[in-house]
Amino acid sequence: MLRFLHYSDVHLTVPKLGWRPRDVFSKKAMGWVNVRLLGRGHRFRHAATVADAMIADARHRGHDGILFSGDATKLAFEPEFAFAAERLGVGDGALPPAVCVPGNHDYYTRRDVRIGHFEKHFGPWLHGERVDGTHRYPFARRVGHVWVVCLNSSHPSVLNTTARGTAGRKQLERLVKLGRILDGPKVLVTHYPLRTARGKLERRSHRLVDHALALAAAREAGIGLWLHGHIHQPFVLTPTAAIPFPVVCAGSATQTNKWAHNEYVIDGRAVNMTRRVWNPTEGRFEEQAKVKLEIAGA
Ligand SMILES: [Fe+2]
Ligand SMILES: [Fe+2]
Repeated sequence: MLRFLHYSDVHLTVPKLGWRPRDVFSKKAMGWVNVRLLGRGHRFRHAATVADAMIADARHRGHDGILFSGDATKLAFEPEFAFAAERLGVGDGALPPAVCVPGNHDYYTRRDVRIGHFEKHFGPWLHGERVDGTHRYPFARRVGHVWVVCLNSSHPSVLNTTARGTAGRKQLERLVKLGRILDGPKVLVTHYPLRTARGKLERRSHRLVDHALALAAAREAGIGLWLHGHIHQPFVLTPTAAIPFPVVCAGSATQTNKWAHNEYVIDGRAVNMTRRVWNPTEGRFEEQAKVKLEIAGA
């Protein structure tokens, strides 16, 4: 029996972002307006407090693994990554092994991706098996009898008006190859969803562009459960003919009044999922929903 913590979209930030002249003329300037003046920052004003409480809680809940599905920061400034990694306990040997993928806010501009702030600060959570050593994603980490497969679906967009993701054909080919050499239940962790809470495709400006290719690759790779974030409201999709495995959105762990994370207790392929939400009055997490799932596969 294995117990996992899954959280997403913490969107931590710091007062001193370390602006450089080139940032002022980049997408970061519009993003900053969104955060500081248009309410996004306000929605995450308690983010550090809730993240601290979640990690403090994780220290004594007996987890076997931690899964973080991206959006550590708001604008991908290096001080935000340093702060997020420190608060989430990256590299802290007292926490169970963790894996993660970047969110679109961590891959905000092409320059952020090129510099590799996310990979630098979250490096200890990016260890695993790869089919091709020259590529960071996907990678797979074994925890007990379960393989956790981490796929990067985030890609910098030029404008703030879009937050589209893509996994890319080459990475999906590697996912299929990787899946074929892993035996046992396979759980995918990625930032982007396949569908919304209603089972529909997300709006064009917010969706995983190559969702059909990603789904086909996940099926070929033998993925039996798809875990993600990006949509800040948590939900669960049960298997259908088109998507033959459960899909679980963790929501945002830290957004005010949405703050939730999931725990999965896995016995064989049976998964008992519990959604836990923050109660700010009591200063603790409370169980909100319990769902029974099955990791698909032979
Ligand atoms: Fe997010
Ligand atoms: Fe996102």
